[in-house]
Amino acid sequence: MLLAIPEVLAREEALALREQILSAEWVDGNVTSGSGSAGAKRNRQLPETGAATQQAQEQVSAALMGNAQFLAAALPHTVFPPLFNRYGGGEKFDLHVDNAIRFHGPTGARIRTDLSATLFLTDPDEYDGGELEIEGSFGGARHKLPAGHMLLYPSTSLHRVSEVTRGERVSCFFWLQSLVADHAAREMLYELDQSVQTLSAERGKQDAEVLRLTALYHNLVRRWSQA
Ligand code: NI
Repeated sequence: MLLAIPEVLAREEALALREQILSAEWVDGNVTSGSGSAGAKRNRQLPETGAATQQAQEQVSAALMGNAQFLAAALPHTVFPPLFNRYGGGEKFDLHVDNAIRFHGPTGARIRTDLSATLFLTDPDEYDGGELEIEGSFGGARHKLPAGHMLLYPSTSLHRVSEVTRGERVSCFFWLQSLVADHAAREMLYELDQSVQTLSAERGKQDAEVLRLTALYHNLVRRWSQA
């Protein structure tokens, strides 16, 4: 499943966050390259540690944990601390797959990457190119979302960021391990959850059938989740 989640950050928040991190010091993007992507990548990144990074990470993490659509779609077990990258003129990231396992040096955390996410911090009209292309998505769509919006996609997919030819693309990106490893199972849970939300708004949470479906949802999560 490929999901665009609107307004994870309000547009003004996203743009302010971008200004804040742009004034920090940046390093070559290959510092976090896995063996699957070294050499394919040409961009810059905010270092994994440092005051600017930590402050930005806390802001994004708080927004994620308060976003019902993200929580329902991802069913996160562990979210890798968000990272930040920028692509200026001529920079790009060729077709690659994200490493299956990610180690976070500063905390020693280790996760299996089930889902990858890009939270856009630049509006689409500020740069040319820089589209996120995900192989196998419907019609091979090129994704370029407004500032504050986020694309969530399976880490199993080959993807690339096309060359930026004007302006600069600044984004936040991260991986997460889901409580439900199986993509098909997680997608069905998301469908069921969305339907239960709609029915419960129409009929009320105490409606007998809404209760039955809610129980079914939670029992399926119990059955399929790995804590
Ligand atoms: Ni990637």
